[in-house]
Amino acid sequence: MKKTIRDIDVSGKRVFVRVDYNVPMNAELKIMDDTRIVSTLPTINYLVEHGARVILCSHLGRPNGQVDPKLSLRPVLARLSKLMDRPISFAEDVTDKSTLEMVNSMHDGDILMLENIRFYKEEEKNTESFAKKLANLADIFVLEAFATAHRKHASTYGIAQYIPAVCGFLVEEELRMFDKVLTSPEHPFVAILGGAKVSDKLPVIENLLDKVDTILIGGGMAYTFIKAIGGNVGMSIVDNSKLDLAKEIYERAKEKGVKIILPIDNIGAKEFSEDAESKLFNSGFISDDYQGMDIGPKTIKTFKKEIKKAKTIVWNGPVGVYEYEKFKRGTNKIAKYVAKSKAISVIGGGDSVAAIQSLGYAKKVTHLSTGGGASLMLLQGKKLPCVEMIEDI
Ligand code: 3PG
Repeated sequence: MKKTIRDIDVSGKRVFVRVDYNVPMNAELKIMDDTRIVSTLPTINYLVEHGARVILCSHLGRPNGQVDPKLSLRPVLARLSKLMDRPISFAEDVTDKSTLEMVNSMHDGDILMLENIRFYKEEEKNTESFAKKLANLADIFVLEAFATAHRKHASTYGIAQYIPAVCGFLVEEELRMFDKVLTSPEHPFVAILGGAKVSDKLPVIENLLDKVDTILIGGGMAYTFIKAIGGNVGMSIVDNSKLDLAKEIYERAKEKGVKIILPIDNIGAKEFSEDAESKLFNSGFISDDYQGMDIGPKTIKTFKKEIKKAKTIVWNGPVGVYEYEKFKRGTNKIAKYVAKSKAISVIGGGDSVAAIQSLGYAKKVTHLSTGGGASLMLLQGKKLPCVEMIEDI
C-alpha cells in the first residue's frame, strides 16, 4: 500500500496537488462532464480541513508547450470554485516569480490553482530545472492525477524526486479497486474488451489469461481476431501486423480453459459514417464492400448471458462505433447489463464510462475509473511510474 495524505502531517504545509482536470469541453468552453473535478473534492477538502495550503496543478488537452487560450484552466477554476462554494486564486504563469510570491503569502486552508501546466514544453519533457521549479513551490507532493499517472512528466513524476510524495484519495481508491479485481477476483470473472486499437488490448488479454474465466471481445479490435481465425471482415478495421499474435493468444486461451467469445453477428456499414447504408452480417461473413460498426443482436444476447453469470466484471472499450448514435446500441446494451449485474464491476476507458454515465447507471456499478491509458496499463499488468515514485507504508 502506498502512503497517502492520511499518513503525513499537512498542517501549515504548502501542498502541491497534481490533479487531472483534463475534462471534455464544448466549443463555447463549457465543461461537458465534471467527474474528474468532483472526484478530487474529498482530497482537497481533507487538505483544507487539516490546514494545508493547497496548490492545484493540472493539464488540459494537448497544447504542445504553447499557450492556447482555448485550453486555459479558467473554466475549471470557476467550476471548482462553484462546487466548493469558495474563492480560489489563480496563478497565470508558474515560471514567474509572482507565483512563488503568491504561494508564500498563502494562509492555512487557502487554495491556489496554476494555469495549464502543458503550456510549458518542459512539462512533457520532464526537464530537471522545471521539475525543481515546481518542487520549489511546495513542501509536499500529492499525486491525485490517476488518469495521468502513466505519464512521466515534470508535474506528475519529476517533482516527486525533490519533495516527499504521497497519494490522494482518488488515486488510492483507483489502485484499491484495480488491485481487488486483478489479485483476488470472485469467479466467474468476465472481462469485456472493445475499442478500435487491438495493439493496446492484446497485452491486456495476455495478462488476464491467468485471472479470468471469460473474455468477451467486441469493437474494432474484434475484426483482427475474426480475420486471424479465417473469417472475412470486408473493409472492417484490422491490424494486419497483429494477426499472428491474435491467433496465438486465441489458441493459448483455449489451452488454458479461458473462453474467448468473439462476435457472432455484426452490423456492417458501407462507409464509416452515421448515415451509411447498413445491414446485419454473420461475423466472419462481412461482404467486401462493408465494414463492421457494431455487434449484432445474437452477440448481444450471448454477451448478456455471460455478464449475468459473472461475479467480477472488468470492462474497457466500446463494442461498436460509439461516436455514432446508430452504432452505439451494442455498447449501451452492455452498459445496461453490467449496471444490472450484482458483480463487482470496474469500468475504464472514455466511451465505456460515457455509456454508463449517459444512461444514468454511474451509481449502479462498483467503480468507474477516471483513467483511460492509466487503467489500461494496470490491466496490462504494468506499474504506473508516478505511483512507483511513492513510498509504501
Ligand atoms: C487522459 O485524458 O487520458 C489524461 O488526461 C491523459 O491525457 P494525455 O493522453 O493527453 O496524456
